[in-house]
Order: sequence, then structure tokens, then C-alpha cells
Amino acid sequence: MKVRETIPTAENSHNMNQMPDSMLVVGTTLDNLKSAILGETGASAKYAAYAKAAREQGYDQIARLFEATSAAEQIHIGLEFGLVSEMDPDYVKPTAEAPEAHASDLNLIDGAKGEIFETSDMYPAFIKVAQEEGNAKAVQVFTRAKLAESVHAERYLEAYNDIDAADDDKFYLCPICGYIHKGEDFEKCPICFCPKASFRAF
Ligand SMILES: [Fe+2]
Ligand SMILES: [Fe+2]
Repeated sequence: MKVRETIPTAENSHNMNQMPDSMLVVGTTLDNLKSAILGETGASAKYAAYAKAAREQGYDQIARLFEATSAAEQIHIGLEFGLVSEMDPDYVKPTAEAPEAHASDLNLIDGAKGEIFETSDMYPAFIKVAQEEGNAKAVQVFTRAKLAESVHAERYLEAYNDIDAADDDKFYLCPICGYIHKGEDFEKCPICFCPKASFRAF
């Protein structure tokens, strides 16, 4: 992912459209924050289960990718929970059961499908409502999550294609927005401009 000259926002980006045949249920920004938290909570639990399965199946690098992505979704949950707490102080975070894992190649495809839904459907719809409501904080949180999910999908598909040719590259997680970089070759987050030194290695 290329680093732009300015931080990407919903206003200066051209990949913020929603799928026209979407079945997504869209509500107010408060509703949407809660459904995003629910979705991210399920995704985080699922990727933790897929990481465990990958390790048992002998795919160390894929296990590390699932661990990094599970942690990334926790970052999104934290950002969204912060906004919900301001509007609804009694809200309690949901929990999720870890689902059954399958073969790691299929787990990668399942993960990519979820990430593509979030980046091309769920978050663009939620960004639009937040813009209409004039909720700039929610626009920013949803926009950064939307951009990070697209990279998560890319990492999963890359790992799927390289399953028989894994390397030793580490994955680096941006602690601010959940972006994941593969390998050492970067200086800062392309989404939020956080410096590499603050990233967490997996
Ligand atoms: Fe994600
Ligand atoms: Fe970032």
C-alpha cells in the first residue's frame, strides 16, 4: 500500500462506495457502532481460533497473520467502544464464541470474504450515515477501519496464494488504526501515518 502525501479520509478517497445489492441493515451511527463492534468481536474471536488451527497444522506464518489480524480487530473495537460509551454509557461490550476452524487455506478465504464485506459494504454505509449526522469522530473511526480491512483482505489472499511458499517475514500491526504490513520495508502507516517504531511485530 502506497503512502499518500496526506492522510486518507472519506473526503479525499475514491474507494468509499457501497455494494448496490447490499443486504446490510443500517441504522443510526450509534446502532452502526454497536453492530460494527459485534462484527469485529466475532472476527477477532474467529481469527484467534484460525491462528490456533494454523499453528496445529504447521503454518507458523499464517498463524502469526491471524494473530495480528485478531489484535487489529481489537483496536477497531476499542475505537468504536470509545464512541459508543460517550453516547450510551450503560452499553456492555458483547462477547463471541470461537467458531470451528477448518483447513488453513479455507480459513484464509473465509477471513478474506469477511474483510471484503466490511471494506466494500459495511463501513462505507456506516461512513455515509455518520457524514449525514455530522459525526466527524465516527467518520474517522469508520474510515480508518474501512481502509485497514481492505489491507487485511489483501494479506489473507496473499497468504492463500503463498501457502506453499511461506517466507520468514514478520507482520507489523499499526497500534492506532489496525493496518498490517508484511515485512520490514516501510517507514510509517499509510492510513494514519503512525511511525514504524510504534508498530507491534508478530
Ligand atoms: Fe479486519
Ligand atoms: Fe495506522
